Amino acid sequence: MRSLKKLILILLALAVIVIGGFFALTHQSVMDPVAQPAAGSFSQQQIDKGKLLAAMGDCAVCHTAPGGTKNTGGLPIASPFGTIYTTNITPDAETGIGSWSYEAFERAMRHGVNRDGQYLYPAFPYTAFTRVTDDDMKSLYAYLMTQPAVKHQPPKTSLNFPFNVRPGIAAWNWMYLKKGPLPEDSSKPPEWNRGAYIAEGLGHCSACHSPRDQFAGEKGGAEKFAGSTLDGWTVPALTSKTSAPMVWTADDLYAYFKHGFSPRHGSAAGPMAPVVHGMSQQSDADIKALASYIMSFKDPNAKVVDAEAYVAAKLKEPKFAIDHEGYRLFEGACASCHSAVGDIKSSMFGVRPQLALNTNLYSDSPNNSVLVMLNGIQTAATPTTGTMPAFRHNLSDAQIATLLNTMREQYGLQPWSNLPATVGKLRKETEPSATRLSAH
Ligand code: HEC
Ligand code: HEC
Ligand code: HEC
Repeated sequence: MRSLKKLILILLALAVIVIGGFFALTHQSVMDPVAQPAAGSFSQQQIDKGKLLAAMGDCAVCHTAPGGTKNTGGLPIASPFGTIYTTNITPDAETGIGSWSYEAFERAMRHGVNRDGQYLYPAFPYTAFTRVTDDDMKSLYAYLMTQPAVKHQPPKTSLNFPFNVRPGIAAWNWMYLKKGPLPEDSSKPPEWNRGAYIAEGLGHCSACHSPRDQFAGEKGGAEKFAGSTLDGWTVPALTSKTSAPMVWTADDLYAYFKHGFSPRHGSAAGPMAPVVHGMSQQSDADIKALASYIMSFKDPNAKVVDAEAYVAAKLKEPKFAIDHEGYRLFEGACASCHSAVGDIKSSMFGVRPQLALNTNLYSDSPNNSVLVMLNGIQTAATPTTGTMPAFRHNLSDAQIATLLNTMREQYGLQPWSNLPATVGKLRKETEPSATRLSAH
């Protein structure tokens, strides 16, 4: 009995030492507050550059709540451990980052630690932002610090135990955070290196496009950019694992990032629309560099097929009679905007997207097509792509399923199984009155 007590005491002492040591090792200092730098301390050139970089990094996409003021935070990000709220990054001293020195800002962006010395959750993509150069980082700071200061306290994040113990993130960082600038690859041309800097840094493409392991770390190697899921959306693979019927060329990627639409693939909807919105504002040279980097993940031997001939072949023989339900639904609800015949030459941006070429209809997962049909495309990626109405109030689960599977069969694909149930599930999850976005 006595030895058991002793053992427990020893174990307790050990636990205290281990936990104490862990806290000592993970301790980060509080950085002193500073007065908000005067606007004159930055050049206009630096501020303008920072604005473009902020668009590239989607800062406002995450740091603005639906209907909220830009960069004042409060966007809820769902995680299996609870909801994480983004913070106010306007220069308000009390509720934002107005009292943050450049050093404090830089530590948050590169090391994921806030001014108070607290570890930040990796829902904030600092594992990518750590790649940003000093010069770009200073421009971002200059831009943010010269924007209107807005007093607004977003809801505080409180996750379930043990995820509320922020020092635990230090262990995660130890596994997944590779600090510092991206090493240059001298075997590759400068354009490729520039594209890598954009994609791996502010663009944080892999945060969505790479699958994650059991600890929510991004997978690399052959799994890099191999596709993932996000809020019901299927994030397509950017590698040769793509389901796109047309091989992506550098020109296609350029069109997609610049206009939000590639006539040979389709449009950027859902979580990709704001990414393209930010990217479309960048210089042509940068958009081309990004395309060149992404191209290097594709199969170099894949044959480029003529899209028009492909569509003509797919649609040559209608598989359905004119009174088939799916066919009638398409003619009634979709044909006014989407070509059913092979006229991709006349498919102007956002006017008649050719669905026989759409990546999502060829995917193993019906989710993206279903979500677009239920909720439409309310915010186009760029002004040149159109919007699409929502059909959730006009079509039943069964009708949406019939319509999509009719198209699949017309294009020579297997129908998606269990589709009405998937439509019903996604309908519920994205109910405008019940979405997590308005949860608070
Ligand atoms: C994918 C969403 C996302 C994007 C994109 C994003 N952030 Fe954040 N950011 C977050 C979240 C979530 C937090 C809070 C994390 C936490 O509470 O642990 C955060 C925290 C921060 C913080 C710490 C603020 C504080 O008060 O602790 C700073 C600074 C910051 N972000 C700046 C930026 C900048 C600059 C950009 C654009 C280059 C950016 N963020 C883009 C999600 C994002
Ligand atoms: C917030 C998550 C997110 C981020 C960040 C993101 N993507 Fe996407 N991406 C998506 C989703 C979701 C889709 C599917 C869009 C659709 O169906 O309209 C997509 C689609 C694409 C497509 C079209 C693929 C196809 O075959 O149709 C390309 C190309 C692409 N993304 C490239 C990129 C690049 C390059 C970056 C970084 C600059 C990036 N994405 C960042 C979520 C994201
Ligand atoms: C009023 C015009 C209009 C109607 C009607 C319409 N669409 Fe669309 N649809 C569009 C536009 C425009 C886009 C591209 C939007 C963009 O890029 O912002 C689009 C895109 C799509 C996409 C591709 C989404 C992606 O992420 O690549 C699918 C799938 C689609 N529509 C299916 C349908 C179906 C099925 C119907 C009939 C039920 C339909 N649409 C009716 C205008 C329309």
